[in-house]
Amino acid sequence: MKIITVEDQLQGAQIAVAKIKKILSHKPGVFGLATGSSPLEIYRQLSQSKLDFSNSISINLDEYVGLAPNHPQSYHYFMKQNLFNSKQFLHSYIPDGLNPNAQEVENEYEQIIKDHPIDLQILGIGENGHIGFNEPLTSFDSRTHRVALTKSTIDANARFFDNADEVPKYAYSMGIGTIMKAKEIVFVAYGEKKAKAVYQMIDEPVTIDVPASVLQTHPNVTVIIDHKAGALLKKIE
Ligand code: F6R
Repeated sequence: MKIITVEDQLQGAQIAVAKIKKILSHKPGVFGLATGSSPLEIYRQLSQSKLDFSNSISINLDEYVGLAPNHPQSYHYFMKQNLFNSKQFLHSYIPDGLNPNAQEVENEYEQIIKDHPIDLQILGIGENGHIGFNEPLTSFDSRTHRVALTKSTIDANARFFDNADEVPKYAYSMGIGTIMKAKEIVFVAYGEKKAKAVYQMIDEPVTIDVPASVLQTHPNVTVIIDHKAGALLKKIE
């Protein structure tokens, strides 16, 4: 793992964008995308750049089951708002949250990724070390799968919905094995809330208790963190 400590998200995003630019200077790319707050500045900089994604492909990590693409809490909507409204890709794939047939979604998504191997995957991390929706104890071999959300995630999401019944109970997510197939991973984490997970991911042994620790075994990972997220690290450059 290459660990880069940055002053802020602006600087972190510049490094990620430079990597994306480098891929695009050779050929159209296949980019694995994440949602959440950590990659937001990357998407802002990409949106304002002159980079051309019209021959490139994007493949998102995950989506809630049961939410329509135009639902403001869906990841389809998030990606539209934060990137796709400004940058059009040749194809943008996000798991189909409206398809209740999990097996079908899983097979289709794995086939998409097989047909379009991911050149660069952007990844964030949960406070418990999750990547995508892969919570602790998820198998490192897992492929795209339907995940039952934890009660704490369901409760935390409840505030965004008018009715408790609408709150998603499941999500579709690339598996850990799927994520690990990406040729290159750019990991971003900021703030003290991530410090423990970042420490466990980098300095502790690889364990399914901390899904992100699997990244220690990937040949090409760049970890971009601010000082707060890296505060507990022992071996920092
Ligand atoms: C999002 C995703 C999640 C987030 C993680 C961190 O597609 O897969 O694993 O990357 O929960 O979220 P933020 O960046 O909001 O702290």
